[in-house]
Amino acid sequence: MGEMFSIWLCFEGLFIIGITHLVYKWRNPKCRGRLPPGSMGMPLIGETFQFFTHGNSLDLPPFLKKGMEKYGSLFKTSVAGRPVVISSDPEFNYFIINQEGKLVQKWYMDSLSKTTDRGEFPTTVSADKITKYLRNLVLKHFGPETLKQKLLPPVEEMVRRHLRLWSTKESVEVQLSLLSMVFDLTAKLLFNYETDITQLSESYVSQLFTNFSEIMMCFPLNIPGTALYRALKNKEKAVNMLKGILEERRRAIPNRSHGDILDHVIQDMRDETFLSDNFVATTMFSILSANIEPIATSIALAIILLTDHPSVLQELRDEHEAIISSRRVNNTDSTITWDEYKSMTFTSYVINETFRLANITFGILSKAIRDIEINGYTIPSGWTIMIVPTAVHLNPNLFEDPLAFNPWRWKDLGSTASCKNFLTFGGGMRACLGADYCRMVMAIFLHILVTNYRWTKIKGGDIIRTPILQFPNGFHIKIWEMKSWRTTERVFTER
Ligand code: HEM
Repeated sequence: MGEMFSIWLCFEGLFIIGITHLVYKWRNPKCRGRLPPGSMGMPLIGETFQFFTHGNSLDLPPFLKKGMEKYGSLFKTSVAGRPVVISSDPEFNYFIINQEGKLVQKWYMDSLSKTTDRGEFPTTVSADKITKYLRNLVLKHFGPETLKQKLLPPVEEMVRRHLRLWSTKESVEVQLSLLSMVFDLTAKLLFNYETDITQLSESYVSQLFTNFSEIMMCFPLNIPGTALYRALKNKEKAVNMLKGILEERRRAIPNRSHGDILDHVIQDMRDETFLSDNFVATTMFSILSANIEPIATSIALAIILLTDHPSVLQELRDEHEAIISSRRVNNTDSTITWDEYKSMTFTSYVINETFRLANITFGILSKAIRDIEINGYTIPSGWTIMIVPTAVHLNPNLFEDPLAFNPWRWKDLGSTASCKNFLTFGGGMRACLGADYCRMVMAIFLHILVTNYRWTKIKGGDIIRTPILQFPNGFHIKIWEMKSWRTTERVFTER
């Protein structure tokens, strides 16, 4: 009995020593210098749960806020099984963004990498070639030249269609309805896909093409019940649907032009062997995902903010009414022209301010490929660096009264705020190529909304950061076309 007890004590001792050693090693990772301050949390779990603690406003999520207060603008942590250095230092961010391929490389953490994976490639095809193909494709079809020459009319037509439908409903949940509008628009541009919008299931769209931002920092556990499992299953369904569209197009009358992006890709498939069906369908999927959730969320936030800020809404409306009046003077009943779009100055301030507060991209992630020295600290090679646009956008030294929705601030900030302090669309070699397109879609949407419609809030509009921006109860509105609004207004006044 006594012997058993000694053996048990011995095991217990070894176990405690083992655990202590593990905890010590975890908390003091190897580094050829001094690591930035911060905590690595518990072995394996790190500070993942703290990272995801909700914030109930547009303000910085609690984990980030506390970390910055305690350790400053650069601190270490561990999230989703990886060592991470979080940066809110504009100078360091700018430096890192411009070091792609030299000191850092693009890195989406383990979970997101699985969902952005574009399948198997011949070993002769480099990752750079694949990225280059995607970037060129997006630039050609969503870049500034195409916007000017081609995209204004289809965007306007789609927004008008959807807003008209909204106005026939008793209540509209803004974000879900926007998800289906942006899906519809992107599907039209990608593969000329006409959906019957009255039939389109909003929740189906949101299920298949959204929630990818959520899995950015989750554990790479692909088992039933996890976020990653759901995301991969949804991706599989969506990619299969897109492969079906590709096959159908190939079977259809050869050489018939549809004028969409799929035509272009099918043409490229004849010359480029790496363009497999799987790659093409996954690329379409990536473009749909890049469009749907970020654009819908940004516009939804703009509507919430405008509803809460009547003076901003009034100035916005004045700008757009002036465009309509000038059309009347010139006797034109045209659709929105490029010059009109370019004249929407206050609108561009509203859009910048919405993007600044929305912080759609919570973190811009890179992996250090060499040890990086910064302010006396060393970020070891292999570590993840997370640039947090939210922390820059809500820094009171850069944006006065940062939580206020104040589009007028952009009048004075101008382009000086653009490169280091405005990170909504990333920067450097990895900068977003859909940025101009997103701005245009938002401007057209706001133009049609404020000149043709009036709306009133029914319920919702609460905002949380998980750290991704979300509207937990949705934002429900009743929207009227101007003519019927005037009647409704009269009825209310006469009462
Ligand atoms: C509100 C909407 C959007 C936001 C906030 C946004 C944000 C970003 C950010 C922050 C990056 C840099 C990512 C990184 O460095 O890791 C990026 C890259 C990119 N985005 Fe967007 N984006 C938006 C919409 C779009 C749209 C609509 C498209 C396509 C039409 C698009 C296409 C791209 C592409 C091609 C890249 C470069 C990817 C690469 O080089 O690997 N984005 N975006």
